[in-house]
Amino acid sequence: MARPGVRTHGRTVIGVAGTAHVTGKQGHRKRLWDARQRSYWAWVSPAYEALYLSRWSVLENAWVKERLRSLVGESSAVVVDLAAGTGLGHRLVAELNTSACYVGLDISREMLAVADPPFPAVITAMDEIGCLRSCVADVIISLFTSGSFASDPSALLAEVHRLLKPGGVAYLSVLSSRALSRITSRNRGAARYHTRGASIGLGDGRGAPVHRFTVRQLRRLATESRLRLLDVRGMNVLSGVAEWRGLWTAGRLVAIAVPGLSHSLELVVRRDPSPDRS
Ligand SMILES: C[S@@+](CC[C@H](N)C(=O)[O-])C[C@H]1O[C@@H](n2cnc3c(N)ncnc32)[C@H](O)[C@@H]1O
Repeated sequence: MARPGVRTHGRTVIGVAGTAHVTGKQGHRKRLWDARQRSYWAWVSPAYEALYLSRWSVLENAWVKERLRSLVGESSAVVVDLAAGTGLGHRLVAELNTSACYVGLDISREMLAVADPPFPAVITAMDEIGCLRSCVADVIISLFTSGSFASDPSALLAEVHRLLKPGGVAYLSVLSSRALSRITSRNRGAARYHTRGASIGLGDGRGAPVHRFTVRQLRRLATESRLRLLDVRGMNVLSGVAEWRGLWTAGRLVAIAVPGLSHSLELVVRRDPSPDRS
């Protein structure tokens, strides 16, 4: 799947792609954005897994797993995980389909290095994936708000369209701009994001830059990228607000009524099955 030049480190195949294609002011902004992502996630990587061991996180993982079940269920499906991080997507896909062919991608070498077990991975920005060929994926996933960390959301969706086989589907999670969690946490500021908010005591300067979205913006982005939006849901309005197991169902019910209040919006898009029209 990866192009020649990919190196093998033990069991993990690593392709490293540059970000040389975007030039001028836009290129400068992208390099700065990506550098901030690398530095933030390198810093957070040793603590990342421990931050997501709560009962609430277990419920969130189970909810996402159920949503992925029908998408990755087909044997030998090729699954590409954009922002694979420390391997949650790899574990969920393996639980759902032991014969899936999984490839992770992440901008942070340090996040990938934490993954246990390791998996085939590419180190690159998800909105400029030079080293994976077109029409390679049956399914693309990008879990737990990862889509918000791409510097250019339109370029990200263009890459999703390019990588998907005709008829392929993508499950993408992004931060909601109207989330209740923004009212209560230090993440209410527009520019930077701290995973798990204040709980690890990060200084403001060390957050990751993010894009946040409304449901309407996601619809528009999908249409502009020639992807069909099949579904968009809020996960839970109490994520990042009041993460008590007993409140899970209440938070879900409000998320069903008003998806935008959720911390994250979860969308499913499909590339047109007809190669001519996509
Ligand atoms: C919130 S974590 C989610 C990781 C994983 N998907 C999970 O659910 O555990 C966000 C991940 O996005 C990666 N990331 C940030 N900016 C990125 C970019 N522009 N391209 C690819 N990965 C990026 C980070 O390194 C980090 O691993």
